[in-house]
Amino acid sequence: MVVAMSERNGTGGWSRISAAIYDPVLWAGERIAMRERRRELLRQARGRTVELGSGTGLNLPHYPADVDELILTEPDAAMAARLRRRLRRSGRDARVIAAPAERLPLEDGSVDTIVSTLVLCTVEAPGAALREIARVLRPDGQLLFIEHVRADSARLAAWQDRLAGTWSRFASGCRCNRPTVELIDAGALAVDQLQEASWRGMPAIVRPLVAGRARISAAERDGR
Ligand SMILES: C[S@@+](CC[C@H](N)C(=O)[O-])C[C@H]1O[C@@H](n2cnc3c(N)ncnc32)[C@H](O)[C@@H]1O
Repeated sequence: MVVAMSERNGTGGWSRISAAIYDPVLWAGERIAMRERRRELLRQARGRTVELGSGTGLNLPHYPADVDELILTEPDAAMAARLRRRLRRSGRDARVIAAPAERLPLEDGSVDTIVSTLVLCTVEAPGAALREIARVLRPDGQLLFIEHVRADSARLAAWQDRLAGTWSRFASGCRCNRPTVELIDAGALAVDQLQEASWRGMPAIVRPLVAGRARISAAERDGR
């Protein structure tokens, strides 16, 4: 089922080009290891599952068949068009919603699993997005993520800072120097599984990668 809400952008020339080249640009990295990483992460998805910024739908084949409900969110119209096409071809039952991570049209405490792969680097307001994730998650819910992050190496981090503006213009707002794990841990969520890796097949400034899980923190749960 496909539901269109207020699609934000994606009608401009660069948005359409970005959406068209997305899969080819990621192709090598997906083949080398990323596809397997997605599969491994999404094995943990359960219950009512919401994916943020689904892009062209590269995660679709990896969701367990027995998740109760699958909602794919994508605010960019050009990406969403490709996502819908892939969804139709997959034969899976899922809804596509054109909502940004900062404003999810979902009730408080109504979601078991939220998935974010390569999205928290791009959202305009990561703090707001993380608050929204915590709001919609049930107390025992989980955020599953794969994100490229700020490098531990001072030298590579300096290159990320230097190239952040140029990269962001090329990669539709992606911030290659964002310390995403620290941002997740700073709010109502607490990371309880974390694997560090390298996004092989991609430029060095986006290679530092993390995969993991976060849950509502004990302090936040007690306060609810
Ligand atoms: C690098 S792509 C990742 C796509 C997909 N998740 C994947 O793993 O291949 C980033 C995606 O985040 C989407 N996005 C950008 N801003 C967003 C926001 N505020 N909320 C949710 N998604 C957003 C973009 O439209 C794009 O589809």
